[in-house]
Amino acid sequence: MLTLLKLLKDGRFHSGQTLGAALGISRSAVWKQLQHLEAELNLPIHKVRGRGYQLAAPLALLDADGIAAYAGASIWPTFIFDSIDSTNAEALRAVAEGRQAPFLVLAERQSAGRGRRGRTWVSPFAENLYYSLVLRIDGGMRQLEGLSLVVGLAVMQALRELGIAKAGLKWPNDVLVGQQKIAGILLELVGDPADVCHVVLGIGINVNMQATDAVDQQWTSMRLETGKAVDRNQLVALLNQRLQEYLALHRDQGFGPIQEQWEANHLWQGKAVSLIAGVKQVDGVVMGIDQQGALRLKVDGVEKSFSGGELSLRLRNDS
Ligand code: BTN
Repeated sequence: MLTLLKLLKDGRFHSGQTLGAALGISRSAVWKQLQHLEAELNLPIHKVRGRGYQLAAPLALLDADGIAAYAGASIWPTFIFDSIDSTNAEALRAVAEGRQAPFLVLAERQSAGRGRRGRTWVSPFAENLYYSLVLRIDGGMRQLEGLSLVVGLAVMQALRELGIAKAGLKWPNDVLVGQQKIAGILLELVGDPADVCHVVLGIGINVNMQATDAVDQQWTSMRLETGKAVDRNQLVALLNQRLQEYLALHRDQGFGPIQEQWEANHLWQGKAVSLIAGVKQVDGVVMGIDQQGALRLKVDGVEKSFSGGELSLRLRNDS
């Protein structure tokens, strides 16, 4: 079915006969596949008698040559899927099968994209970026300290360079524009963190998405912010570069030198917040983060640190 889509991606008209001949199927089989494409991928296709079929808008798909055109050589071996349950899940399967890290998994869509705290990450076809980079970490909890925050900083930096000047961070690792989420990060780890382990840096960026009913929080996308369609291959190339730089800094010098930069870009610095952990809630004022990336809150006049993947932060109404 996606082979058919690739024939149509130029946004021009193609007759049923030409498409059928290219795929070795009948015209009615072409028609059926097109109906599936429309329904499953939510892609409007124009059908005009005498001219054939045309995508409502040309499609720019992810591809290795397209990424290399912006970056020169690719930094990590890259595996691109048309459709997958979750790039993080695929990355973890590949680690279990013995694939050597580092490597990168990308997909055009995810049928079961994973968000933090058990949420779903809405992942429509060919609109956004679903990116999972796998690293092997050898003997050192220190290399994991603040890692998700470092990834957030790299994502924010890449977004700013592509025109999202107001992109900022929200602890632990959301990238926001104002109150609206533009990117999310989910780290998943397998192995022994004190010895050898693999960490999957899962990044979802809302790139060209302009409408959806499926996201249950305030969101925006690069396209909504800039008014222009973004070339996702360019975004991958830039994100690869920024991640490579920040990860090298973090590996060589730890989270310490990055802490100040992170705090300077924290949108909720000094804000009155509620920290939610399951049914528990702590109210305080954001002081910053510590050298391990934990959140420092002033709670009833006393400074306390909090860390953990299941925590979430909300602004208090009086903030
Ligand atoms: C969040 O809830 O903020 C984290 C969202 C992370 C989504 C990305 S998309 C690529 C990777 N694969 C997944 O299944 N999730 C992450």
